Amino acid sequence: MNISPQIIEDIKARNDIEHVISSYITLKRAGSNLNGLCPFHSEKTPSFTVFPSTQSFYCFGCGAGGDAITFVMRMENLDYVSAVRTLAERSGVTIPENTIISNGKKEVTRQRVLEMNKEAAKYFRNALFDPKYGSEAMDYLVNKRKLSTTVIKHFGIGFAPNSFGALHDHLKRLGYTDDEMVTGFLCGRGKNNSAYDYFRNRIMFPIIDVSGNVIAFGGRVMDNSEPKYLNTSDTPAFKKSKNLFALNYAKNHCESTMILCEGYMDVISLHAAGFENAVATLGTAITSEQARIFSRYTKKVVISYDSDQAGQRAADKAFNLLQEVGVDVKILKIDGAKDPDEYIKKFGSDKFKAIIEGSKTRFEFETDKVLSKYNINNVDEKIKASHELCKVIATFASDIERELYCRKMATIFDIPLQSIQKDVASILRRKVKEDKSKQQSELYRITSGLGDRVNPESASNIRANKIEEAILGMMLLKQEHMKICVERLNSDNFITPFSKKVFESISTVYKEYGKFDIGYIQDEFSVEQTSRITKMLAVRERLTKNDEETLQNLISSLIEEGQRKEDLDSFDDILSAIKNKKKTEKG
Ligand code: CTP
Ligand code: MN
Repeated sequence: MNISPQIIEDIKARNDIEHVISSYITLKRAGSNLNGLCPFHSEKTPSFTVFPSTQSFYCFGCGAGGDAITFVMRMENLDYVSAVRTLAERSGVTIPENTIISNGKKEVTRQRVLEMNKEAAKYFRNALFDPKYGSEAMDYLVNKRKLSTTVIKHFGIGFAPNSFGALHDHLKRLGYTDDEMVTGFLCGRGKNNSAYDYFRNRIMFPIIDVSGNVIAFGGRVMDNSEPKYLNTSDTPAFKKSKNLFALNYAKNHCESTMILCEGYMDVISLHAAGFENAVATLGTAITSEQARIFSRYTKKVVISYDSDQAGQRAADKAFNLLQEVGVDVKILKIDGAKDPDEYIKKFGSDKFKAIIEGSKTRFEFETDKVLSKYNINNVDEKIKASHELCKVIATFASDIERELYCRKMATIFDIPLQSIQKDVASILRRKVKEDKSKQQSELYRITSGLGDRVNPESASNIRANKIEEAILGMMLLKQEHMKICVERLNSDNFITPFSKKVFESISTVYKEYGKFDIGYIQDEFSVEQTSRITKMLAVRERLTKNDEETLQNLISSLIEEGQRKEDLDSFDDILSAIKNKKKTEKG
């Protein structure tokens, strides 16, 4: 434990989980608990549950769980200590500096990586403006890509020299270790374990968060070689699925609308042309976490992806994710250019402004697509076209939207409204059924312990693991249970390694402090492991039999289970002894 229980307790008392979570997502009361759409996976019906009585949350859909600290860790992509600090700041608790002992497991901290990135960004910038290193890169940016030096400086664009050690040596002089450079993704490790520069001979785009930290880099080649881009992977300071390129600027220009592009170059061109509300994802398809960022900053998103097939497919996905978080989504059709960057260069910014204003809703966009694909004066093609459009309508989550689109479709296709409604309804029913069976097989996979990464041995000890989890869940539910368990059980009674470890942590803390909170032990567990621990609690919360008698029975069953396993193990020993004896007799 890094932080004293008193401080954790104080922080948790001032940061009621309900308040913390509802500052990120909308929660609705359901009995004594609250439900909402899970922020950690994409869903249409709420399986995310907040339990005020135990100050915990658990998602029955994706298995994410924990307390207010875990929630902030996941939402803000922070380590444990930083999440505690964030909550402390939010509620005015001061944490004395010396109460936090540096955590042995995570030597490379977020803060160090951020400082190092800042130095690296400065280094890349200087290299670009130094003719000795950066003349070719500058020529590429200014003459080929038509960027002004103002824009280059505005975005902090730089150049990584063609060297395996230039940045490394520079950072080393500034006191950064190889470990920090490798963890921060500025260096790779070679065969003889030495660190070498990861970005070489590339134009460097720094990725800056809304607080102005350089959190990552994208590096582009200047010719047609592959890979075109190298990007920072996840580090203690960066998770690509949770950030957007240029949000640091766009955040001040996006109240009414934001433009979502695919590429760094598109965003830079758009900003240069006066569209400072443009952002891009970071070398990946948009995630539900990024969709939520949009919903925090704006009411409307115009998707402005490349005009090729890949871009259009990606646009579909983005459409759905953005729709789910409740922003108004429009899609841009770019004709005569491969991407927004090329469009602006060819046709100018007024034209671009016009197509932004004429951007379409998804229904209009999809209808146009279907109508351009089929000739609906031909019966067979009309059937195909209707079927495709019905499928599109079925993907809208809101009843009202589906109803309105059915009506529009009825007019366009000249088909009775009822037939369309019937088709859409049957597509929806099929979808619900498919989803259900998917969920069921997932549930089976989880309950049977198959593919259980947190506790692999649960699969071969199904019954024992169920009892263990019930006991641990009850312990977490009430302090009185904790007392009983600590008195009657010791960690050897637990059969699977993960349960054993959880029990050990809980009972150690409880014995030392006479009380327990999941916040005390989180730094010993990964977020996945914390989720599993919370699941045990969440499952018990849903059951009504949480009395002392049930617990005593469970404890006895676990002790028996252990006995049975011992008997079986010694039986195995006897068997193999007999076998060996036979072998030696034969031999
Ligand atoms: N991307 C990547 N790795 C690649 C190719 C692309 O990470 N090998 C990501 C980058 O974030 C890039 C985006 O996908 O910005 C879009 O790719 P692309 O259209 O190829 O690049 P642009 O940034 O548009 O660059 P350019 O205009 O120079 O082609
Ligand atoms: Mn592009």
